[in-house]
Amino acid sequence: MSLQGKKIGFIGAGAMAEALLTGIVKAGLTQPENLCASDVSQERLAHLTDKLGVRKVESNNQLSTESEIIILAVKPQVVSGVLEDIRQVVKPGQVVVSIAAGITISTMEAILGQPVAVVRVMPNTPCLVGAGASALALGTHAGFAEESAVSAILGAVGKVVTIKENLLDSVTGLSGSGPAYMYVILEAFADAGVKVGLPRDVALTLAAQTMLGAAKMVLETGEHPGKLKDMVTTPGGTTINGLYALEKGNLRYTLMKAVKKAAERSAEMSKQV
Ligand SMILES: NC(=O)c1ccc[n+]([C@@H]2O[C@H](COP(=O)([O-])OP(=O)(O)OC[C@H]3O[C@@H](n4cnc5c(N)ncnc54)[C@H](OP(=O)(O)O)[C@@H]3O)[C@@H](O)[C@H]2O)c1
Repeated sequence: MSLQGKKIGFIGAGAMAEALLTGIVKAGLTQPENLCASDVSQERLAHLTDKLGVRKVESNNQLSTESEIIILAVKPQVVSGVLEDIRQVVKPGQVVVSIAAGITISTMEAILGQPVAVVRVMPNTPCLVGAGASALALGTHAGFAEESAVSAILGAVGKVVTIKENLLDSVTGLSGSGPAYMYVILEAFADAGVKVGLPRDVALTLAAQTMLGAAKMVLETGEHPGKLKDMVTTPGGTTINGLYALEKGNLRYTLMKAVKKAAERSAEMSKQV
């Protein structure tokens, strides 16, 4: 689905809305005059208008009346209240997208109380630098057109996959929480460089670029990471000695356990929202 000419509104003009709006404008998905935002903070709205030419709208209801795609970019604890407000003006034919963690599709559909297309998204923080990893799940009344529209928006700030909603807690454990695991690995990797004599800044640059490069190799060659690893591992060489130490330190088990724990916590928290 082309987004050209589509009216897209963001309720909540915070960090995530800014990242997505920047991606939409940069990719030219639709003209800035078709983009609008509402927020309790006039300062945030003024910032988005100045930076991106996005129209500011006085209320969430006005935004919901005018927009074909309504993106809820507020904190999870605010989502139900916002939906209660806008339900009077939202009509079938519009698409309501939530990027808030833990608010289920059935909760949103029940509050809206009409056959409106709902899409639930789990993005991650690297969306802020155009390298996000997001997953979307479609509600009862959402189909191919809504999937391709929301995929195009998220695709402007990174990679996006479509999954069943019951896997969103797993996505939260993997790519939602994942940047924090990668930061810890990177910090340790840079410390290791310092341990073997490199200056701190040099070690961090080499460590971060190595992580980025390895990830690009996997994404761009489509090769299995095990094969790429084997390609740089010569018999009795440096790399196999490093890998031997990693296996002894249980890196694989530790990462699997981290993702499992985070996914379990996400499921627990969804029940509490
Ligand atoms: N940041 C991330 O990387 C990330 C990753 C995954 C998921 N998410 C999800 O994305 C959502 C947005 O996150 P964020 O980091 O962009 O949050 P944020 O920076 O706090 O932005 C939310 C904005 O919405 C405003 N707001 C609060 N109540 C409102 C209302 N009733 N109507 C309109 N606007 C209202 C907030 O104002 P006040 O600050 O004055 O309350 C704030 O400016 C959250 O649900 C978060 O869980 C974010």
